[in-house]
Amino acid sequence: MKKDKKVVTLAYGCQMSERDAETLTHITRQEGYTSSDDLINADLVIINTCCVRESAENKILGKIGELKKLKEDNPNLKIAISGCMVQQPGALERLKKRAPHIDIWAGTHNLHDFSTLLHQAEQGEKVAEVWQEPKTTIESTPQAEKGKLQANVNIMYGCNNFCSYCIVPHVRGRERSRKPEEIINEIRDLVSSGCREVTLLGQNVNSYGKEFTPTYDFADLLQEVDQIPDLLRVRFITSHPKDLSDKLIETVAQGTKLCEHFHLPIQSGSNFILERMNRKYTREYYLSRVDKIHEFLPEASLTTDIIVGFPGESEEDFEQTLEIMKLIRYSHAFTFMYSKRSGTLAAELEDQIPLDVKKRRLQRLMSVQNQNSLEWRQKMLGKSYEVLVEGPSKTNPERLVGRTRGNELVVFDGNPDQIGSLVNIRITEAGTWTLVGDIQTKA
Ligand code: 5AD
Ligand code: SF4
Repeated sequence: MKKDKKVVTLAYGCQMSERDAETLTHITRQEGYTSSDDLINADLVIINTCCVRESAENKILGKIGELKKLKEDNPNLKIAISGCMVQQPGALERLKKRAPHIDIWAGTHNLHDFSTLLHQAEQGEKVAEVWQEPKTTIESTPQAEKGKLQANVNIMYGCNNFCSYCIVPHVRGRERSRKPEEIINEIRDLVSSGCREVTLLGQNVNSYGKEFTPTYDFADLLQEVDQIPDLLRVRFITSHPKDLSDKLIETVAQGTKLCEHFHLPIQSGSNFILERMNRKYTREYYLSRVDKIHEFLPEASLTTDIIVGFPGESEEDFEQTLEIMKLIRYSHAFTFMYSKRSGTLAAELEDQIPLDVKKRRLQRLMSVQNQNSLEWRQKMLGKSYEVLVEGPSKTNPERLVGRTRGNELVVFDGNPDQIGSLVNIRITEAGTWTLVGDIQTKA
């Protein structure tokens, strides 16, 4: 039997998907595989999928199609498709018909048992396992990849919000929180293997611990994580605006490692659209939360997600989105055209917006945001910021790259032995996406 088995893992979509892909890679490592990015010589290819927008699905279907050729050239190759796309109601049968060359299909609730599926596939079987419900005890034993400077740590799974456009609650199930001690232990473990920054992941971290008695919420968790020795930074995503408490904002303001960055998806600036989206807040409430953040953290960096062309969005609604963006001045925004997801409430709405209108609105939105991003960074010129040094810059490996507490990317000249430590950088150049600076002192 061939000893040196290679696995290529590809993750599409959000950080949760990336994190799940890490779990799968970890499982294959225990099965004797080593990670690789060489598709041609792979023994196993895993695609952890996303179905949040049609564009992601199309990209993945294209990739699955490409792998057919690879399998014809190398009949021993095993291919596994996992995650959100497979979990959609009715998707498995459709996908199996479309891609008979796939060996393993696994839903979002079946990742823990991947080794069993892999053994079966290695014996030449075609296998599919898609549970409709999660089993929490199984989810409580994830493995973040060790030895890296930064790690993503799941603090909860699923979502209860049912925003009307969103497929996530349909494919990731209801909200369930991991126990604080498990999270803390995982982070301590990561730190002892060299990790210096963690990002706590949840579809809505602000509702962490809602099921716990005695009461223990996300702010309590942050306070504990802030105390972990040798950890330098703590980030978290995503914050649903409706659940962003004063306590959480105050906790971030008082913390030492807690980064002053809130990813607070607004989705739309129009109350009519927000209501149709089932977001459960108004633009006025959202703005009051932003004011609260600024009251405690005047320099906090805000980022957001916005959807244009939601069914029924008029020019006036869209103008309100542009207006609120100009007002809030996010340092970065993820902007999307609405994508109809079957099984969601919004897919049933009649007044869908034509593609050319969506495209035009997206262009206008992006140009407003690009201006905001540039102005946000230009305001940083001449000032000094604490930066965690991450490694060589991708565009110029002679230079180093790192991030501010606000999650802005900074490029600078430095010494590779500074990787993994905090330095103070004075910003000397500001662009829409990146900053350039000079090292002042070790922070
Ligand atoms: N169409 C477009 N964007 C969507 N998002 C979620 N569902 C859809 C959809 N059907 C966006 C939201 C969310 C981000 C992760 O993806 O903005 O915050
Ligand atoms: Fe989707 Fe809304 Fe849940 Fe976010 S909060 S995952 S947008 S349903």
